[in-house]
Amino acid sequence: APTPLTDGLGRRISYVRISVTDRCDLRCRYCMAERMQFLPRSQLLTLEEIALLADMFIARGVRKIRLTGGEPLVRRDVGDLVRRIGRHLQGGGLEELTLTTNGTRLVEHADMLFDAGVRRINVSLDSLDPQRFAHVTRGGDLQRVLAGLDAAKTAGLAVKINMVALNGINADEILPMLRWCDAHDFDLTLIETMPLGETGEDRTRHYLPLTQVVDMIGREYGLRPVTDRTGGPARYHAVEGLRIRLGLITPLTRNFCADCNRIRMTCEGKIYLCLGHEDHVDLRDALRNDGLEAVAALVDRALLRKPARHDFHIDAQGVSSAAHRHMSVTGG
Ligand code: GTP
Ligand code: 5AD
Ligand code: SF4
Repeated sequence: APTPLTDGLGRRISYVRISVTDRCDLRCRYCMAERMQFLPRSQLLTLEEIALLADMFIARGVRKIRLTGGEPLVRRDVGDLVRRIGRHLQGGGLEELTLTTNGTRLVEHADMLFDAGVRRINVSLDSLDPQRFAHVTRGGDLQRVLAGLDAAKTAGLAVKINMVALNGINADEILPMLRWCDAHDFDLTLIETMPLGETGEDRTRHYLPLTQVVDMIGREYGLRPVTDRTGGPARYHAVEGLRIRLGLITPLTRNFCADCNRIRMTCEGKIYLCLGHEDHVDLRDALRNDGLEAVAALVDRALLRKPARHDFHIDAQGVSSAAHRHMSVTGG
């Protein structure tokens, strides 16, 4: 049988995040610049090419695939891809197919996702106040996302809300969000803002260390670390008196790279070895000219260079990083 994907430090790669488009119908301030230059469609992998690459990853031991973007549900015919990859869930080696979405198109797509075998999705939601939501997303309509969340629940999808914790933007909404998620039976993951790409925003000013947030929540509710993991970077806590699981993603205050199990592929077919570095390998031309075996060899060689950790920094100069692309290129 083909050998499992392993990096140069002996870490098994069992999780691939596939960005299916760099486009998005929102413009979150911490993610994108107000005016983004999107890739010309001619540069994109076709859905069939993405599916072939997913087949290869699964054959090489990948157990979890997450579709991201940009916003994955804005890619035309994305349902064909979800169904195609979802076939691997029936005894085909894939354990989880999921996606991270901004929620604006869930009303149209929730049933499709469930029918294709998706059972759990992560939805970005940084504010429950319509004006603030519109501010953070530079124009988004909160009602649409809330309707999308309802549709997801009705379709039978478990939902985890992702909230990027931002000083001066939504810090005062963290406790209300926790209670709201609990009341709606959603889990909540808080995320430290990561310095990726120029967004025109002052990231240092908005950076909120989750250590502070944990202290703040801890004054209201007991927090107990739990050992469950999803295979992603979050560490989870049970919240006393509530049903909710609270996840924390702390690239800046508590690094989690030692057990990194993932790589990411962009919509052009580039494999980025680490979210915080620019090093990548381009699979598209090899796939088109030389076939899947050549592609697999390229991936193996690149994995030997996977960095030990990201190098997001926070110091007196503020938050910084060696990676200059926007989060929307790799979807996190
Ligand atoms: P679960 O399967 O629910 O654990 O999801 P996930 O946390 O793996 O994925 P999601 O797309 O919801 O991402 C949540 C946050 O984690 C985003 O801000 C991502 O950028 C961040 N994230 C995911 N993987 C990595 C990683 O390898 N390094 C860093 N620094 N952040 C990551
Ligand atoms: N830092 C942290 N999280 C980010 N996201 C987008 N940009 C950033 C950033 N700069 C989040 C989105 C989404 C997830 C994929 O990553 O809100 O939930
Ligand atoms: Fe779009 Fe997600 Fe980036 Fe917001 S964080 S602009 S929803 S890709």
